[in-house]
Amino acid sequence: GTVVALVPAAGRGVRLGEATPKAFVPVGGSPMVRLAVEGLIASGAVDRIIVMVPAEFVESAVALLPPSDSVHVVVGGAERIDSVRAGLAAAPEAAYYLVHDAARALTPPALIARVAAELRAGHLAVVPALPVADTIKSVDAAGAVTGTPDRAQLRAIQTPQGFAAGLLRSAYLADGVQATDDAGLVELLGAQVHTIPGDPMAFKITTPLDLLLAHAVLDGADL
Ligand code: CTP
Ligand code: MG
Repeated sequence: GTVVALVPAAGRGVRLGEATPKAFVPVGGSPMVRLAVEGLIASGAVDRIIVMVPAEFVESAVALLPPSDSVHVVVGGAERIDSVRAGLAAAPEAAYYLVHDAARALTPPALIARVAAELRAGHLAVVPALPVADTIKSVDAAGAVTGTPDRAQLRAIQTPQGFAAGLLRSAYLADGVQATDDAGLVELLGAQVHTIPGDPMAFKITTPLDLLLAHAVLDGADL
């Protein structure tokens, strides 16, 4: 079955605070979106790649991405969910989707290949997961703690997130649904989501500190 990667790269990067939209900010000389696409290609697990970018960045994205018949650029949307929807519309032929943030620019190709392999093994939804280092608490609007879930049962979830195509399409058909990741939408349908071990290098570049870390990694810092 055809594996299509959908790469949300249409965010503004408000928390990073650079003048350029985040996916176009260079890390070690390459824009994040190019690094993410190169990682997907290097995984050998992906047949086609759809990259969703801000409308005014389509041309520059085409120019900076690896020239390939299997890499396509489309216009994303106002929220990440809208960008993924735009990607789905551009790739109706998929048997499997991998949704992979441009902001996880240093994701090891082996992790991408593992997610695809778990889909082929029959799991309908697959996400990389890492134990959390911090204690996580819920708080109310006034900042008072309302609960402390058992950390041993919590995981930080990364991308790529892999899905049987029909399941992800159904999850996105519902109108007005909200979730902070794609698996969250699939969970709303009651589907089982399978976790596999994530990788620290698949961290999301969100803040200036994350960008500093990414540069250090590319400079060969001994971590
Ligand atoms: N994304 C997208 N379309 C949006 C918003 C986000 O394609 N409307 C993408 C981002 O480009 C990023 C990924 O979704 O690759 C994860 O989002 P996030 O890390 O939040 O990136 P931004 O939304 O750009 O950052 P911020 O929230 O700080 O503005
Ligand atoms: Mg965002």
